[in-house]
Amino acid sequence: MPVFGLGTWRMGEHSDQFQQEADAIRAALDMGVRLIDTAEMYGEGGAEEVIGEAIRGRRDDVFLVSKFYPHNASRNGVMEACERSLRRMDCDYIDLYLQHWPGSVPPEQTFEALHELQQQGKIRDFGVSNFNLTELQQIPAADQTRLGCNQVFYNLAHREVEWEVSAWCRDRGIPVMAYSPLDQASSLLSSSAVTAVAERHSVTPAQVALAWLLHQPDTVVIPKSSRPERIQENLDAVSIELGEEDMAELDDAFPAPDRAVRLGMR
Ligand SMILES: NC(=O)c1ccc[n+]([C@@H]2O[C@H](COP(=O)([O-])OP(=O)(O)OC[C@H]3O[C@@H](n4cnc5c(N)ncnc54)[C@H](OP(=O)(O)O)[C@@H]3O)[C@@H](O)[C@H]2O)c1
Repeated sequence: MPVFGLGTWRMGEHSDQFQQEADAIRAALDMGVRLIDTAEMYGEGGAEEVIGEAIRGRRDDVFLVSKFYPHNASRNGVMEACERSLRRMDCDYIDLYLQHWPGSVPPEQTFEALHELQQQGKIRDFGVSNFNLTELQQIPAADQTRLGCNQVFYNLAHREVEWEVSAWCRDRGIPVMAYSPLDQASSLLSSSAVTAVAERHSVTPAQVALAWLLHQPDTVVIPKSSRPERIQENLDAVSIELGEEDMAELDDAFPAPDRAVRLGMR
């Protein structure tokens, strides 16, 4: 799985922005971005339609991640949600299909459907999103080690996942996919620690936030932008090398949790 992807939350919500968003995704593919993250929730299918338009004729260039609502997590619900996503994206398979957050459907049912979709070739792999340790442990034992990822809220200012969840995933070889890696362009990007490291490397604060995540073990980042120049800026963060001094400064300003904390969610 590529370590860098493009997020698409907030795309597909306004028809007058459809072409501009599809162009941005196409530009991302031209730059070499290979992973696109979406969900049936984004624009209630609108983001998947934008992706369908953007990837027409180049399906093999893309590692597609999509997600189903927890209220669609029953056996038939997952099968039908997947068909709808495939239709909207105008493609035959999803590379990685995730349950968007935990719900009330017994996981055995959901995973049975995911196996079936995998056997039919409609999904290559499956995983979860926003699952805390207890919820991960409720997944059928044989599937716990087969998860393609746990996609979680993770950035310098929100390190809750480092309390137990990251280690559980790492021990099983499961990548952590960090969503809102820029903290949705919050004050993180103007914080003195981040800007100091950015100045030292002559890069932008957004690039520092992404580079810090990419220095964490088995971590994938999926920043969202609809602007090609920002997508290129974000992608360039993959090659930034932070030194021990940089990492220590960022760690001091944004310490890891030292006691039990709930996994954050956006
Ligand atoms: N599984 C889940 O529950 C979940 C939850 C949230 C998000 N996600 C996924 O993760 C993706 C990323 O998270 P996110 O969209 O919440 O937040 P994000 O990627 O942290 O931040 C996106 C915001 O930052 C701006 N931005 C992007 N690049 C920038 C840069 N270089 N400098 C300054 N601002 C920049 C974007 O604006 P412009 O577009 O105008 O550039 C947008 O407003 C989502 O799109 C979605 O695919 C998953």
